[in-house]
Amino acid sequence: MINGKIVLITGAASGIGAETAKLLAARGAIPVLTGRNERKLQESAASIKTAHGCYKLDVTDSAEAAAVMAQVVERFGRIDVLLNNAGYGLFEPFAESSIEQFEQMMDTNYMGIVRCTKAVLPIMKRQGGGHIINVASMAGKLSTPKSSGYAATKHAVLGLTNALRPELAPLGITVSAVNPGPIDTPFLHTADPEGSYANKVRGYMLQPKQVAEAIIKVIQRRTAEVDLPLSASIGIRIYGLFPRLADRVASRWLHRK
Ligand code: NAI
Repeated sequence: MINGKIVLITGAASGIGAETAKLLAARGAIPVLTGRNERKLQESAASIKTAHGCYKLDVTDSAEAAAVMAQVVERFGRIDVLLNNAGYGLFEPFAESSIEQFEQMMDTNYMGIVRCTKAVLPIMKRQGGGHIINVASMAGKLSTPKSSGYAATKHAVLGLTNALRPELAPLGITVSAVNPGPIDTPFLHTADPEGSYANKVRGYMLQPKQVAEAIIKVIQRRTAEVDLPLSASIGIRIYGLFPRLADRVASRWLHRK
């Protein structure tokens, strides 16, 4: 059941977050869009004509996360789903990445989820349940060259997700992970400004709508984890079984960044 659910989305000004908000609204849920940039957030929310919320929230700010969650509960009464989606990547060789870049990526992609989850937890406990969905990545399972900083943040997200899932289950709180392969969103303009990675993976790039549909299914079925597309999901499983062999056999495929 998705109808009437209050779904708070971080990083909803663009890409998957914006697309999921639109799809949720079309299916009768009440998306609460949050993001750093108020102007972009308003533009994203403007296409939603049904009930929704819109709040400035930078996930690197713990106080703002707590304040926004409190305002959302005051207005809508509850938060059924927290979609931890905000994040970015920089695809660069390790030697050329600064320490600050590593720290900042971890602060947004990993600590952002820690902050928002901490802020929503007392609310979900009080209401007797909820659903936390973390957007990780294929990069959380399979690290490739030029993604040491980004892949580490997404491995951290999956580590957190897998620990929280059994810990929060007795409280009626489901914790899920969504691990997409490359998606055609502004993410890639930041990660790879020259577009060479995007050109190499264009043949199997996901569209944001496909990922939004997958997220909606995760909400409906309370799925623990989903990898997409299917081909990547199979590849990840084989890699997990034979990582060193896969490093050798699939080396060309893994060097796309
Ligand atoms: P996107 O760049 O369109 O969306 C990410 C959003 O997060 C942006 O609106 C950005 O402003 C926001 N954001 C960044 N830092 C923030 C902060 N400190 N506080 C609040 N919001 C912040 O890109 P996309 O693809 O929709 O990204 C969504 C998630 O999907 C990210 O976590 C990304 O790592 C993940 N992902 C993306 C893939 C891709 O190829 N596009 C592949 C796999 C995962």
